[in-house]
Amino acid sequence: MDLKQKIIFITGGSHGIGRALAENLAREGARLILVARSEDRLKEFVTQYGKQHRYYVCDLSDYKQVSKLAESVQKEYGSLDILVNVAGIGIYKNLEETSLSDWQTSFATNVTTPFLLSQGILPLLQKTKDSFVLNIGSGAGNISMRGRSMYCATKFALRGWTLSLAEEFKEKFPRFFLITLGSTLTNFSGKSIEEKKKEMAVGRAYFPVEWVANKLVEIIKNDNRETETTLFPGDYGFGTWKKQ
Ligand SMILES: NC(=O)c1ccc[n+]([C@@H]2O[C@H](COP(=O)([O-])OP(=O)(O)OC[C@H]3O[C@@H](n4cnc5c(N)ncnc54)[C@H](OP(=O)(O)O)[C@@H]3O)[C@@H](O)[C@H]2O)c1
Repeated sequence: MDLKQKIIFITGGSHGIGRALAENLAREGARLILVARSEDRLKEFVTQYGKQHRYYVCDLSDYKQVSKLAESVQKEYGSLDILVNVAGIGIYKNLEETSLSDWQTSFATNVTTPFLLSQGILPLLQKTKDSFVLNIGSGAGNISMRGRSMYCATKFALRGWTLSLAEEFKEKFPRFFLITLGSTLTNFSGKSIEEKKKEMAVGRAYFPVEWVANKLVEIIKNDNRETETTLFPGDYGFGTWKKQ
């Protein structure tokens, strides 16, 4: 797929993987719609990469804001090519420490928002041949981990939902795809990049964020992409990983 002039909606375009992906897609000539809470970061993106890109400030853990966002996009765009659900949060807590609010925020951001957005902008995606939804899952979506039960639960849910929709939409557009991604060097889950770099120095595997962004662009451009692509840093020579 040639990405020139393709309209690509990315959640979480302000930081980390979403930001690196947005920068790469902008260089490919795509027109981006970015969504996150950090308005300064989104504004700066448009200043740097041009006014063909748009952004919406939205708290993606808030159902009302997400539904409004989908309505606004429906009004402002005639069609869309690709939705990439990148935004996510990782609250790693033991059962005793997990609050209902942690649980609700985690599921809202990681599971319910991809559902609400996919459904909300479905009519725009249905107008475009070759359109698709790409969801960023995690190794925590098929490997259980102590101390991360709530995060695992959200990513198992996202994986089951995406793979089921891949079957439901097998013969029509948009298609649905999943990336099952291993640890990546961002500030995700409350541990800073500096702390993660210290872990890397003693062999712990992390993907560089630019590597992930490049790989995602390669997958997005590939018309024969797999329904689920699994990327673990240990498999690509970036160190070793041990199940918790
Ligand atoms: N890093 C990893 O090791 C890793 C591994 C596997 C999978 N993943 C997945 O990759 C995705 C991106 O993670 P990352 O590493 O890039 O994390 P990150 O650096 O923390 O970035 C998270 C992004 O999501 C946005 N976001 C989070 N909560 C939001 C909310 N309530 N409303 C709007 N936007 C929100 C953030 O934007 P604002 O803060 O500006 O709102 C930010 O742009 C997540 O789905 C994560 O589960 C990450």
